[in-house]
Amino acid sequence: MWKNISIRFRLSILYILLLVILLSLFSYGIFVDTRNFLIRTTAVRLRAQAKPVIEQWLYLNKENKSVNRELRNTPNTVYLRKIAYSLAIDLTSRDTAALVLDDHGTILAAGTRLKEEPLPVPPDRTYYSKSLSGNNDVSYITMRDNELFLVVLIPLREAPGSSAILGVVQLSTSLIPIEGILARQKVILIGGIIIVFIAGALLGLWITSTSLKELSCMVVTCNQIADGDLGKRINLPQRRDEIGQLADAFDNMIMRIKELFDTQNRFVANAAHELRTPLTAIQGSLEVLMRGAQDDPQASARLTQGMYREVTRLTRMCEQLLDLTRIKNPMDIHRERISIKILIKDFIQYAGIIAEGRKIIVNSSSDLCLFVNPDSFKQVLFNLIDNAVQHTEQEGIITFDWELSGTNVEIHITDNGSGIDPVDLPNIFEPFYRGDPSRSRRHGGTGLGLTIVKTIVEANGGRIKADSRPNEKTVFTITFPVS
Ligand SMILES: Nc1ncnc2c1ncn2[C@@H]1O[C@H](COP(=O)(O)OP(=O)(O)O)[C@@H](O)[C@H]1O
Ligand SMILES: [Mg+2]
Repeated sequence: MWKNISIRFRLSILYILLLVILLSLFSYGIFVDTRNFLIRTTAVRLRAQAKPVIEQWLYLNKENKSVNRELRNTPNTVYLRKIAYSLAIDLTSRDTAALVLDDHGTILAAGTRLKEEPLPVPPDRTYYSKSLSGNNDVSYITMRDNELFLVVLIPLREAPGSSAILGVVQLSTSLIPIEGILARQKVILIGGIIIVFIAGALLGLWITSTSLKELSCMVVTCNQIADGDLGKRINLPQRRDEIGQLADAFDNMIMRIKELFDTQNRFVANAAHELRTPLTAIQGSLEVLMRGAQDDPQASARLTQGMYREVTRLTRMCEQLLDLTRIKNPMDIHRERISIKILIKDFIQYAGIIAEGRKIIVNSSSDLCLFVNPDSFKQVLFNLIDNAVQHTEQEGIITFDWELSGTNVEIHITDNGSGIDPVDLPNIFEPFYRGDPSRSRRHGGTGLGLTIVKTIVEANGGRIKADSRPNEKTVFTITFPVS
């Protein structure tokens, strides 16, 4: 289901979801941190405000000469009871309610007198007992009448720093002002998230649609190509990103397919033409024979010989065509590591038979190794020698030599025959191409020899090229990576 949705839409959704989740987490973090900060500073403010008042009443006034002697000598607990009310009143303000508790948690005094002063929060045993046990930092948040209050507890010590505790001062203040600030912040953050969501959605859709627009064009082009229009190209030269690369790769692939199709078509047309020529000749001879030439033994022998020659050539052509299809697939070739020296030495004995008197010379002695299929490599040498024999006079010289060139082995097969016309040179490896068709045909040539050579060499991982100077020499150079 998810995979049926367009990439454009999927990317936008993922991108927006991610954006909103991250932003929400970030906003929540900010919100919680601000809230804690505001509460902490309020607690600090309450303590700071209370400290001088408590010190004044608890310690300074007691030492003061103006306080009467009797009061000065009372025990501390009694003293606290006496001053509790005044202390509570001094600690109370418009936003702070104060309570003074004794060391049992009983309320000694509450500071609220005026109507506009807030009412104190009832003391909570769990907290004031902590404060009574000496903890200076007790504060908590509590709810009263649907309103949140911050409560701060300050232990009252007999003397500054003493561990004897007389009671506790409880200060409480409403959190409404802080809640107000936080509510405003919440609105700003949520508003921000919504704006980012909308802007992100629009931007995301825009970015994905502009960057993926060409994919839709590609689909259209692919369909046109599938309908048979191999001339179509996607062609996105202005894009150098992944989509541009995909388009390039696709265009290259189509170009290669078109080349293969064209080659295939040319090949079939040439093959048909090559088959037709001998078949027409045979048909002609048969017609003459049927018209009564069999009564003339001489003519009938000539015609039969001619037909035999053509049939032989047809058979050879069929064999070569079969060879070609067989070697087209490099995976099917069994290759092994062999020494050129041994390979060529083996071949020379055999080449002497087909050379018909031409001199064959081996000009190298270095022992280099190739990774090829020995049988098909011998066929390459055979086809090249066959050509050299056909294009040299009786006293021709055919030379083999090889050398290391970088990481490659270059093998040269040279003859001093008629050479190849510069016009023919670029085409000689094409199937059925012959420099001089009638001469080639006379020798039983099919124009497939060099095609087979090139196919074998390439299937074995090598390359072949030809250089020639007419009436001087022809050199075929085969290059293989050294093994
Ligand atoms: N050693 C050579 N000297 C001169 N021409 C050559 C040589 N080898 C090949 N050629 C040219 O290349 C053409 C193609 O060769 P090939 O494919 O073997 O076909 P074929 O030998 O059947 O004519 C030949 O017709 C000839 O014109
Ligand atoms: Mg040939």
